[in-house]
Amino acid sequence: MRKGKIIAVAGKGGTGKTAISALLIREILKLAGQDICILAIDADADSNLPDALGIACDKTTGDIRESLLEEKQRDVTLDVRAQFEGKIAEIIEEEEYYDLLVMGRPEGQGCYCPVNHIIRLIIDTLTKNYDYTIIDCEAGLEHLSRRTTMDVDVMLVVLDTTLKSIKTALRLRKIAGEIDVDVKKLIYIANKIPEGAEARIIAEAEKHDLDIEEVIPFDPLIPEYDFKGMPIVDLPGDAPSVVSVRRIVERIM
Ligand SMILES: Nc1ncnc2c1ncn2[C@@H]1O[C@H](COP(=O)(O)OP(=O)(O)OP(=O)(O)O)[C@@H](O)[C@H]1O
Ligand SMILES: [Mg+2]
Repeated sequence: MRKGKIIAVAGKGGTGKTAISALLIREILKLAGQDICILAIDADADSNLPDALGIACDKTTGDIRESLLEEKQRDVTLDVRAQFEGKIAEIIEEEEYYDLLVMGRPEGQGCYCPVNHIIRLIIDTLTKNYDYTIIDCEAGLEHLSRRTTMDVDVMLVVLDTTLKSIKTALRLRKIAGEIDVDVKKLIYIANKIPEGAEARIIAEAEKHDLDIEEVIPFDPLIPEYDFKGMPIVDLPGDAPSVVSVRRIVERIM
């Protein structure tokens, strides 16, 4: 069994979680070579990671959950865990150097909970088959308070130039300390920072006792690729955003 490292990318909406997740996958593969296995998890209900990776993906764990819940209503003896384990392989997109799992629609409440719990256990087990699991989280804190994020080794908390993103980072830190999800290390990253504004954003975060460990510059190629529908993973290796994410990967690995 591999000793998988789980890296979650979290933060306020629109701060760049998906772009950073895609670049992390690319740079880990570049740095570690092709002997390692990566699992990419798109945990955002409004799934964007497949586009950033340039992959078409239409099957999600949410779809399986819905169909299993329907089956369970017809047959109460159905073993949901065994069924889910059997089906999960069908929805994992296998690329040449990594696999992708899309969580899909948000998890429901009440009677859905036991099923969600089973899904979390299965994904926890699944991640042990990979050297690295990268989770592109949904915006904000819902995933933590609903405890749909699994235990993580590193949570990259992404901020931008807004005070709102600092506030979200503070709330993430607070919740991560309170709940039943084990977050071993939080790394704060500032993204989309205009040239010359680095010191200001670092100082602003420091006022709130947040230590920014890496600044990713505003890189006009990212919105351009997004605008044209081109995968972010295809950015040139010397693009300033890629160079910064490479430094983050070196730090984590
Ligand atoms: N370093 C960067 N420089 C310039 N633009 C960026 C950078 N990173 C991300 N963007 C742009 O910011 C926007 C949000 O990026 P992205 O979708 O990755 O954020 P997100 O946090 O995943 O958003 P959401 O919360 O909606 O999932 C996109 O338009 C993207 O093109
Ligand atoms: Mg996103």
